[in-house]
Amino acid sequence: MKVGVFDSGIGGLTVVKSLLEHQLFEEIIYFGDTARVPYGSKDKNTIIRYAIEAVEFFKNFELDMIIVACNTVSAYALDEMNESADCPVIGVVEAGILATANSLQERDANILIIGTNATINSQAYEDGLRLKNFSNLHAKATPLLVPLVEEEIFSGEIINATFKHYFSKLERPQALILGCTHFPLLTKELQKYFTQETQLIHSGDAIVEYLQNRFAFEKKYKNPKMKFFASENPEALRTIARKWLNV
Ligand code: DGL
Repeated sequence: MKVGVFDSGIGGLTVVKSLLEHQLFEEIIYFGDTARVPYGSKDKNTIIRYAIEAVEFFKNFELDMIIVACNTVSAYALDEMNESADCPVIGVVEAGILATANSLQERDANILIIGTNATINSQAYEDGLRLKNFSNLHAKATPLLVPLVEEEIFSGEIINATFKHYFSKLERPQALILGCTHFPLLTKELQKYFTQETQLIHSGDAIVEYLQNRFAFEKKYKNPKMKFFASENPEALRTIARKWLNV
């Protein structure tokens, strides 16, 4: 199986990391739209236009599937991408909703969703979770965490102050949906802040669970072929990929 992974920038590498850990694909083609990141502050029409351009780019590779690692794109542009692609396009939002529903017994569990402004404004997670009968839903846009992760600031004073800024007035949730590609890199600190009692839902793990339930993966690929593309400064993306993914 040959997969394309699309993100607005480097954050989608957290999803690639999960795909690599589970050795699902023979070949991974990553495209990060680094020239136009962030998508999280853009409007719906722009996000859809950029997403369709990414589908066009992926048409050069005869893919079996495209995974949209970006929560913002998954929230707004999945239908449009599926219409213009010649392979299935799968997004992290639906996968995250299913992973949450599978891992929480009580339908009145307090769930907090964090993500970019666009993802939170879309209410895509809440809509999906309501269909699964969850009702105690809270959402908070936490866009400042994105540039901090891009600066590779994963802990310390600034992170703690930012958590306090966003979360101090909120009740501790039973589940925290990391509705943004970058947030898995803050897992340790978020777990510390909210304590071990809060279950973190990670898009990368959610998409692996989703794929394994939907498709028959007969083989494991220990050393998949990987290609990394970016709309600006691909070398910088490749450097980060080597570092984050150990490849
Ligand atoms: N990749 C985006 C997401 O998961 C975060 C960065 C951006 O705003 O483009 O929503």
